[in-house]
Amino acid sequence: MENNRIIIFDTTLRDGEQSPGVSLNMEDKIQIGRQLEKLGVDVLEAGFPVASPGDFKGVQLLATELKNLQVTALARATKKDIDTAWEAIKKGANPRIHTFLATSDIHLKYKLRKTREEVLEMAAEAVKYASGYTSNIEFSAEDASRTDLDFLCKVFEKVIDAGATTVNFPDTVGYAIPWDFGRMVRYIMENTPNIHKAVLSVHCHNDLGLATANVLSAVKEGARQVECTVNGIGERAGNTAMEEVVMAIRTRHDCLPYETGINTRHISSTSRMVSTLTGMPVQPNKAIVGANAFAHESGIHQDGVLKERTTYEIMDPKDIGLSHGRLVLGKHSGRHAMKAKLEEMGYDLSEQEIDRVFIRFKALADKKKEIFPEDLEAIVAEEILRIPETYKLTYLHVAGGSGIRPTATVGIAIEGEERIGVSIGAGPIDAAFKAVAKLIETKSKLLRFTVNSITGGTDAQGEVTVRLQEGDRVVIGQGADPDIITASVRAYLNALNRLAYKK
Ligand code: KIV
Ligand code: ZN
Repeated sequence: MENNRIIIFDTTLRDGEQSPGVSLNMEDKIQIGRQLEKLGVDVLEAGFPVASPGDFKGVQLLATELKNLQVTALARATKKDIDTAWEAIKKGANPRIHTFLATSDIHLKYKLRKTREEVLEMAAEAVKYASGYTSNIEFSAEDASRTDLDFLCKVFEKVIDAGATTVNFPDTVGYAIPWDFGRMVRYIMENTPNIHKAVLSVHCHNDLGLATANVLSAVKEGARQVECTVNGIGERAGNTAMEEVVMAIRTRHDCLPYETGINTRHISSTSRMVSTLTGMPVQPNKAIVGANAFAHESGIHQDGVLKERTTYEIMDPKDIGLSHGRLVLGKHSGRHAMKAKLEEMGYDLSEQEIDRVFIRFKALADKKKEIFPEDLEAIVAEEILRIPETYKLTYLHVAGGSGIRPTATVGIAIEGEERIGVSIGAGPIDAAFKAVAKLIETKSKLLRFTVNSITGGTDAQGEVTVRLQEGDRVVIGQGADPDIITASVRAYLNALNRLAYKK
């Protein structure tokens, strides 16, 4: 029988964490790891243990904590890297060593300064060495899409003989074109004599915006593992977005007769969690998880959807866990109803955490008549998932409008001690940011400021993202509130807290 099961290999915590400005702490990694386990990923790449003691610890923690998936760790093709990777993952359930070595002539000549014969030997030796620890071994040929295909087949043949059970064909630099990438996968399948003893994997970068298309083309030709990240985060333009591959397979099963183990109803909450903890906003028009992915602006489209959803929607928003404007709670809902809703949405919070969320929920319900799941998710993201607060907003008053000088008065508890500052500015947000900056005496520079609406309507919560730089550190902060000035100050303080936490 033909094997149509696609293995989902998630690298949000490894390649995803290589996104500029992203740095996750231990608690962030555990939160995301648990969510990915709930989502149903098969293999989770937890990090690159030899890179730093923090990376090692994060990988070790994830391998110990997560038992319903395979945890893997990256290692260059050296004994030290492989020893360190194994030490970090060995307590996991069916842990995998993922070792890699570049194979393209460009990398051999300029980076490795090695011949093809030397690389062939090194690759096989690394896999053989790893097989002393486990039989679950993946070998990646870095820059494979720019590698001579006959040489690549030789490398794959040799590493499979040495014990590799997965061989990965990465488009490291995002150079591939879908039909050509598919042709290369077919070539590998037909010209690697022992390929049936291993799973062929693909790992595509999105430099030309073709990562998902390349992956689907590869799957059609025989690849059975897809390496991807939530929201497509990763080096440079990022990796293949998991939600795109999974929903393409689900929506176009007629052309893509494959299966994954992903519970798609957790896609939306996973996307939001990854965005909050990494501080990387999702572009509004992003496929599947962007704020506008299911929004209908044109009157003709709105009319069509009201008459019959499928006139303009190829996916049911419920399938990715979106409420689609379904009212969940209101001003009169109690703690019990809110807790039940959070549980239904997949959150497993302690009683203390529920109390904190409930205080924010009540405050929001006073300002906003209808509370949607997306609103609750934003509150959980802010209250529960955020890093320790060195600076906490205690008071905010702004005056603005035409004919008056915008002024802001801000109260901040700095390590428990409240201080009040006042400033004027070009507008109320500018005034509030200046007051905060003076109080905290920050040297950071604001690189970017963006506002999005979480749901529809003028009473919707505004979600603000700020990007700050201090020295060579770049951090991102987020905040949400129906009052966009409050949301902005929360986002600014969140970023300043990240800087303080890093210090
Ligand atoms: O892009 C790449 O080639 C990688 C490998 C380490 C798999 O991330
Ligand atoms: Zn990569």
